[in-house]
Amino acid sequence: MRLAAQIKGGYYPAPPDAVAHAATFLRPPNGGRFCFLDPCCGEGAALQQIAEILNAAADNVYGIELDPERVATTQSLLPDSHILGPASALGVACTRKSFSLAWVNPPFDDQISGGDRVELEFLRQMIDWIVPGGVICFVIPESTSNHWSFRQLFIQWFEEISIEPFPEHCRPYNEVIVFGRRLDRARSPWSLNWNHELQLPHMYDIPTGRKPTRFIKVELTEAELRDALRVSPLQRHLQPHADSLLVEPPLSLGKGHIALLLASGHLDGIVQPEGEPPHVVRGTAKKTQYVAGVEQSDNADGSVTTKTCLSEKITLTVRAVGVDGRIRTFEGG
Ligand SMILES: C[S@@+](CC[C@H](N)C(=O)[O-])C[C@H]1O[C@@H](n2cnc3c(N)ncnc32)[C@H](O)[C@@H]1O
Repeated sequence: MRLAAQIKGGYYPAPPDAVAHAATFLRPPNGGRFCFLDPCCGEGAALQQIAEILNAAADNVYGIELDPERVATTQSLLPDSHILGPASALGVACTRKSFSLAWVNPPFDDQISGGDRVELEFLRQMIDWIVPGGVICFVIPESTSNHWSFRQLFIQWFEEISIEPFPEHCRPYNEVIVFGRRLDRARSPWSLNWNHELQLPHMYDIPTGRKPTRFIKVELTEAELRDALRVSPLQRHLQPHADSLLVEPPLSLGKGHIALLLASGHLDGIVQPEGEPPHVVRGTAKKTQYVAGVEQSDNADGSVTTKTCLSEKITLTVRAVGVDGRIRTFEGG
């Protein structure tokens, strides 16, 4: 996302003239319930405007918004509707195939990781939530509507596809509205051609639908996650441990004890016996092979058989460096 867009949190509300223009292509059902969703509703202006034009009952209007202040604005604008937030539309659980109409004007962005575009993530989510026969109005810059991956996904799940630009006087980012009607099931995108599928913009009859029985936030937003991490009790695992006090053994260690400590790596680190300068010591133990014995025997035919017995022993190497910087190596007793 460009820096200016990041500062605005991707908030580019659709101008009222563009929303009104889009609504001229939408016709509500003649009786029967239809539910309408804006999954990134900003301050709710477009949601309210379309709901009013289409005469949608407040209780059938749904919105999701990430930014806490914009959520509050939308909730006060549409107090009787279902406005969820702060929440990411990608972190909401909703009954599948519920909405008859979706107005989707997502932030234009590349995902931080993964390389997939965020517009595609929104489109996938909408495919899940829109009822078969339901209508999508997807707002994107014209250049994005030309992306192969967007077209492939759209063509797979929608028919009656048409593209209408925002009115010329309010089109700062060359936005277009991509209309489509959701299919019952996905079709193979390979056998289809985008240009053949494209129709002229026309009237879209909105089908009736049902209210989602589930419409809840199931994931923390990134800001909430940061706050939760800051106060998490697990933070203590990331703090440096307080130095533990070394206890003196009741009797001084014998040579064997010290050798074992070195061999097992427990005497690594800084050593500073009382009254002596500090030094760093590191012990390593490795196996080395040696000839344990050689036996020779005379054979009946006058030849000699020699048996060499190889064995292994542990060899300790201790390196110590003192304040003078000299490394001293002690090995093999
Ligand atoms: C381009 S504005 C669209 C506003 C409104 N829908 C309209 O058409 O005028 C995009 C909005 O999406 C919100 N947003 C960004 N990421 C979101 C997400 N993952 N889930 C829900 N809303 C998000 C932004 O805060 C911003 O308000």
